[in-house]
Amino acid sequence: MAFPPGFLWGTATSSHQVEGDNRNNDWWEWEEQTGRIYAGQRSGEACDHYHRFLEDIEMMAALGLNAYRFSLEWSRLEPGPDQFSTPAIDHYGEMIAALKARGIEPVVTLHHFTIPRWLKEAGGFLNPEVVSLFDRYTKEVARALGKEVTYWVTINEPMVLATQGFLLGLWPPGHKNLAETLKVARHLLLAHGRSYRRLKEAHPGALVGLAKHYRIIDPLRSTSWLDRLSARLLDYIFNWAFTDSAERGRLKVPFGWGQGVNDLAGTQDFMGVNYYSRDMISFDLRSPTTLFARMRVREGSETNDLGWEVYPEGLYRLLMALKRYRKPILITENGISTGDDRQRERFLREHLHQVERALGDGADVRGYFYWSLLDNFEWAEGYRARFGLLEVDFATQERMPRPSARLYGRLAKGYGEGA
Ligand code: GAL
Repeated sequence: MAFPPGFLWGTATSSHQVEGDNRNNDWWEWEEQTGRIYAGQRSGEACDHYHRFLEDIEMMAALGLNAYRFSLEWSRLEPGPDQFSTPAIDHYGEMIAALKARGIEPVVTLHHFTIPRWLKEAGGFLNPEVVSLFDRYTKEVARALGKEVTYWVTINEPMVLATQGFLLGLWPPGHKNLAETLKVARHLLLAHGRSYRRLKEAHPGALVGLAKHYRIIDPLRSTSWLDRLSARLLDYIFNWAFTDSAERGRLKVPFGWGQGVNDLAGTQDFMGVNYYSRDMISFDLRSPTTLFARMRVREGSETNDLGWEVYPEGLYRLLMALKRYRKPILITENGISTGDDRQRERFLREHLHQVERALGDGADVRGYFYWSLLDNFEWAEGYRARFGLLEVDFATQERMPRPSARLYGRLAKGYGEGA
């Protein structure tokens, strides 16, 4: 069997999407503005995971899972500049202890899209100081929680954060500016590099990486050289430029002109992969914002509730492409939003089959994290997207394992035993 011993079978969440009552970050403020979130929804109580984490951890354990990826809420840990909250630190400490007591490996993300309000007011990711501010936050987290955690993700989906917030204007701060987008990506790269060094310095045994969103980007018409060129360009910029920069320690085009950055090279102990879908690209002069690439969903393809193509083979293709870095790989997110749980079951089987195939073909995959443990607040899509293995009744906060949750547990066990 292809799955290696010790393979991490987990689920993933992020603080703002599940904890509830995160009033002190930029998203809370954003949600108060009209027209930002589907049907005017707010994150509100979310899944109340901040108080119900024990129940949720018990459920993971009952399913037979051995890993959990979650994020720390920066705005709780550092509610004011350089003011760290002991109750918040203790809270995450308790969570980590509860996981470990049940044999569940914590994979901890330092930043998953939200920032404290004070930082937003100071210019957020546009302010070059964000690099040292993130470093200060990392330092405190490493001091307070570092001994108990092996796996760290510095930043979740830097390119998604930069494009949604600064190019497409769909997320806070709602800007549409290419120069700003590139600047933010640059700051995120530098922040990642510093944070990596900080964690390793404090705990040399830590394994630190990014959770990078990769998409399959294919030309709509394979006979059109313009479509092919457009797809290649977008593929490079969105998928590879950031990862390559962090690997080589250089600000690669379009983030810079290849100039070296101290301490950035080799700052990924593992390659974190978030994979969801594919885009078909045609060259289109009416799409200047996306460098003349127009994105479409492949005609006739299976889609999820949000209209994204379900394309399991894409995961295999990505894992093969990532082999060139010669690093272990963690699939830090992969999941589906659907009201039809049989579709989720199929999704899981098919994607895990592609992981197995990739393992057989030499990809060094060490873990898989289904997104998400719970139905939760899906950013601009609000609560209409249902990604959870556990169905949540948001009126009562009751959790109900879907059949797919049990299937995932069985698959993990079956593959695990064969390992
Ligand atoms: C990722 C993101 C998650 C979650 C998921 C489903 O891009 O990291 O926060 O929202 O997509 O869309």
